Amino acid sequence: MLRAEEKLFSRKKFGKLKIIAENDSGINSGVYFIRNCEWSKKFLHSVYGRTDCLTHHYPEQQAIALELKNPAFSDLSKIVSPRFFNGLPPEFLAPDYCNYHPGDFLVHFASANGQGRLVELFQKYAPLVSLKRIPISLNQYLNQKGFYLSPMHSAKNEGYMSDAQKEQFQDELKLRPEVESILEIGLNGGHSAENFFRFCKGLKKFVSFDINHHAYTPVAVEYFKLTYPARFEFIPGDSMKTVPEYCKKFRDQKFDLIYIDGGHSYDLCLNDILNCKWLAHRGTHVWIDDYGSPVIQQAVAAAENQRVIHKKNIYRTFDKQYGERCWIEVEYQFPKNS
Ligand SMILES: C[S@@+](CC[C@H](N)C(=O)[O-])C[C@H]1O[C@@H](n2cnc3c(N)ncnc32)[C@H](O)[C@@H]1O
Repeated sequence: MLRAEEKLFSRKKFGKLKIIAENDSGINSGVYFIRNCEWSKKFLHSVYGRTDCLTHHYPEQQAIALELKNPAFSDLSKIVSPRFFNGLPPEFLAPDYCNYHPGDFLVHFASANGQGRLVELFQKYAPLVSLKRIPISLNQYLNQKGFYLSPMHSAKNEGYMSDAQKEQFQDELKLRPEVESILEIGLNGGHSAENFFRFCKGLKKFVSFDINHHAYTPVAVEYFKLTYPARFEFIPGDSMKTVPEYCKKFRDQKFDLIYIDGGHSYDLCLNDILNCKWLAHRGTHVWIDDYGSPVIQQAVAAAENQRVIHKKNIYRTFDKQYGERCWIEVEYQFPKNS
């Protein structure tokens, strides 16, 4: 057992745990561990005594889910992310969402029937058995910690970039090879940040500001600190305060690209635009996300009326799945001979 599993099965903890079920959108009784002991026998006895669940679509699963809420069993059981021992590889889930990663304890070939198919899968996955740490992607890291984010604004997350928008950023970054430093407002789950790290070839410094209200934001921060320790910096807090404080502290710091994707109210967006000017030089590229929103359009127009910025280009993308996204590139206006 490796990495995350090592922590989970540490002797101290495992000594107490009696059952570990796994979860994604709910309990999955297809794969679980249970100790061979009296407690477990009682638990299974209660589960299979739940005749009230027999008419449920998944009778056993439903009975386990209900019994795990029973105080007699809940304190000694643990529900963990599917990554721990129900990892589904990309053959069984879309690549961005699959939760198996080479080196994991267990890979699950769910409903793979036929000897030929299984032989094929075993041949592919056997060489991936590894005792080494293998770098993982941001999504895999978030999944491992139980977060499954969607590019749509959902009950679970504030949304992030669609695939088409990621590709468009990638194309635009290729045209700006001089960019070495990026300031971002709005780390959220880190998807735009990851895109910048991957496609900004000369990136030396990336500073992200976020109010840090979402449970997954510190997990994304952890991922970037582990993956890009020398280049990533996170400033938690309300950008209305943290950006001016940062400007005061680092008076000479200027960024080559500023990406504004924080609070989406008129005041927050306008003030982010105004405050970030102190961190820009004449050649700074300024990208503002969600220009499809009338509120963001009004904030951009107000900054333009104050002669702080002028608009350069509007970019749109369309994904079948995630619809239209729109962002704008602007530049700060500086006095001619300053
Ligand atoms: C639309 S999301 C950013 C999406 C992100 N760029 C990504 O790729 O996932 C907006 C983010 O701004 C943060 N935010 C909202 N108001 C803020 C404020 N006043 N100061 C700093 N961050 C703020 C939210 O917590 C959220 O993480």
